[in-house]
This record gives sequence, C-alpha cells and structure tokens, in this order.
Amino acid sequence: MGASSWQGKAGLSPTERALLEVMDAGLRADTQAVREHCRRLMRRPPEDAHHAVTLRAELRALLTASQGHNPLRGVDVAQGADPVAPEAMNLPRDPETNQVLLRVAETAASHGPILDEATRRRVDALIAERPVREALVDAGLQPSRSVLLSGPPGVGKTLTASHIASQMKQTLLVVDLASLMSSYLGRTGRNLRSILDYAAQNECVLFIDEFDALAKRREDDSDVGELKRLVNVLLLELDRWPAGSFLIAATNHKELLDSAISRRFDVLIELPLPATEERKLLISSLPVIVSSAVSDDTCALMALATDGLSHSDIVRLCNGIARETIVRDGGLSSLEEGLVSLAVPKLRELAGEDAKVREQVAVAASVHLGLSNRRIANILGVSHPTISRAIAAFQEREQR
Ligand SMILES: Nc1ncnc2c1ncn2[C@@H]1O[C@H](COP(=O)(O)OP(=O)(O)OP(=O)(O)O)[C@@H](O)[C@H]1O
Ligand SMILES: [Mg+2]
Repeated sequence: MGASSWQGKAGLSPTERALLEVMDAGLRADTQAVREHCRRLMRRPPEDAHHAVTLRAELRALLTASQGHNPLRGVDVAQGADPVAPEAMNLPRDPETNQVLLRVAETAASHGPILDEATRRRVDALIAERPVREALVDAGLQPSRSVLLSGPPGVGKTLTASHIASQMKQTLLVVDLASLMSSYLGRTGRNLRSILDYAAQNECVLFIDEFDALAKRREDDSDVGELKRLVNVLLLELDRWPAGSFLIAATNHKELLDSAISRRFDVLIELPLPATEERKLLISSLPVIVSSAVSDDTCALMALATDGLSHSDIVRLCNGIARETIVRDGGLSSLEEGLVSLAVPKLRELAGEDAKVREQVAVAASVHLGLSNRRIANILGVSHPTISRAIAAFQEREQR
C-alpha cells in the first residue's frame, strides 16, 4: 500500500493514522521506518491517546530492547508471515562466490514430530525456557542456548529443529553446508565465523545439519589443519554464544564428533528409532491413512511389522502402498487390504518358528496394541492357545 493512499484519508483518528503508518513500514520490512515512527510517537503521542505516559514508557522499552540493528526482528515465520527476502535480511555470503551461506526455512506448516515420552519432555523443556529466559538470568541461571540432536537417519532431527523454531516463534536459519564448505582451504573457517556472528547478532534459531562434517574429532588424519581450525572456531563461538539466539546442531554420527564440542552444547538429545507405540501413532496420523479411514487394528499390525524402521522409512512405505493403490484402482478404497497383506507375511516371518520371537510379537500386539488373542493367532498362523500361553508367560514374568 502506498503511504499516500491513506495519509489523506479524512476521518481517521491520530491513533488510527499512526497505526497505519507503522503497519505500512512493518509490512514493507522497513525496520528503520518502524523505529522512526516509534521515536516520533514517543516524542509526541497521538492527541487522542488515553495513556500517553504509559505509551511513552512502553515505546522507550521497545526501542531499548531492539537496540542494535536486527533485520530478523519481527520475521515471525511461525505466525505465517511472508518470508523476508534474503536481500532485506542481509544474510552472510561467501566473499568469493557471493553465494548466500544461510537460508530461511519455512516452519509454518510443520507439525510436531512424534517422539517417545521422555524425548518429547526434553524438547518441550527447552521450548518452555524461552519465554522465561529473563527470569532465569535474574535467578542467576544460564538459559539453554544450544542443543545437539543425534540419532539414525529419518527419525525427525530436521523436523524437531523446525518444531523448536516454530514453537519459539523464531526464524529458522539453516546453514547451507555446500556453500559453507568451500573448496578453498581456509575459507570454510571464515564462512563459518561469519554465519555464527550473524546468528549471534540477529535473534534466530540457527540450524547446522550434518554437524559431523564440521566438527570431526581433531585426531582424524584427513584435512587435519583445516578441521582443527574449524573445531577451534566452533569452540570459541559456542563458548560465547549469546542467550538471544538458539543453536541446533544435528548429526547421524555423534561418535565422530570432537568430544570438546559435544560438551559445549547445553543439552544433548538422542532421537531413537520409533518404538511400537510411536510407530502406531505415526501410521495412524498419516494423511492417506486418516482420509481412507484405515482401521486401528490395521495401523497396529503395520506398527508391529515395521519394527526397526525409521519414521521416515515408515512414511515412505505407507505412502508408497497408497500410491500403488491409487495407480491400480484409481482410489484408496483397497488401501487397508494392501497394508494388511504387507504386514501379515512380515509378522509371520518375524514370528517364524522361533517361539521367543513369536512371544514378543504376540505380547506387543496384545499389551501395546490391544489386538485380541484370536486375531493375533490368525495373523501369526498359530493356534489360539499358543498365543494365550505366550502372553500368560510374559505376564507371569512381569509380576515376578
Ligand atoms: N519423529 C517423527 N515424527 C513424525 N514424522 C517423522 C519423524 N521423523 C521423521 N519423520 C518423517 O520423515 C521425514 C524426514 O524426517 P527428518 O528429515 O526430520 O529426519 P532426520 O532425522 O533429519 O533425517 P536425516 O538424518 O536423514 O537428516 C519427515 O518429513 C517426516 O515425514
Ligand atoms: Mg535431517
């Protein structure tokens, strides 16, 4: 909206005019102009303001709190605001190639990851600290500023990073490893420093994926000099990382990391492969499963049959079956059949001739997923009493 289109509008109160001016500047991401309007209102509040003294004090507090130019302030991706163009954010670039070293990731659409209870509590605890940071500092406590997420591929490290940023209502800036890891020796360290400087100065959540590529143990023989430099840059920056920004690093290979670096993180969270209950929840909440009203029992069977797979594998597997179903039938009406016929042989194979495995599958199906003994017996191709015996043996062991 051009400023002139409303400036001349008759009938608007001074407060309404001031509001429009600030909105106009804000929507154009012109922080300088927003600041200027703030100062003007602080000097001379609108004539119709009912609480001019409080308004002045609040504006002064806002201006003080936003001291130091922060181009990201107000970019509330979690609230669905339009992403600010990288040019407006003045993101750091590789000086030689001019490639941007960070990208702004979309967090608005991300649903929370499915995590086991203990892990979810740890993630929630980090998020819950954010709004009470000042109270923590006042009490002499250091708020958590960084977390290292580790775990096998496809268990939701990236999803969790996005969830944390969205819940903290911060812009998620993702390090572009390809542009950062310059082929020229020495330049990577400089790039890394400018990324960390930028993220430290501009309140955000910074996400470094594949962190092991940067923070390998220093005794590693390859590229010793360069790696040492990177590790040293990281050590220094992690030590002086400010409370305003939050750093998330993720790795599939925690064992490769330099231990001095792992220790620098305030919190270490290991994301495990999903257990039966998480697998069931994941499957039953997939859009194709929800929209085709697949029964709870079938989701439970699939949960049992996908033991050992990651969240990402399971999503891919179920969506793959749905895709095949649509290609074959033109719709999803036989999706349930497709899922059952995939799960049953897998479960039979798991149970096999081995009574112990059979017992495990039967117990998981009964205790965790609530399937009837008859149904479990049918699926595993054994007699009903065999299943009852297996479950009774388990319960007896539990009581001891
Ligand atoms: N915990 C989870 N809850 C729900 N969905 C998940 C979870 N983990 C993974 N997924 C599904 O798998 C996809 C890939 O997950 P994501 O990229 O977060 O895994 P990752 O651990 O970062 O994997 P990688 O190690 O390969 O980077 C997600 O988009 C989502 O569909
Ligand atoms: Mg990832």
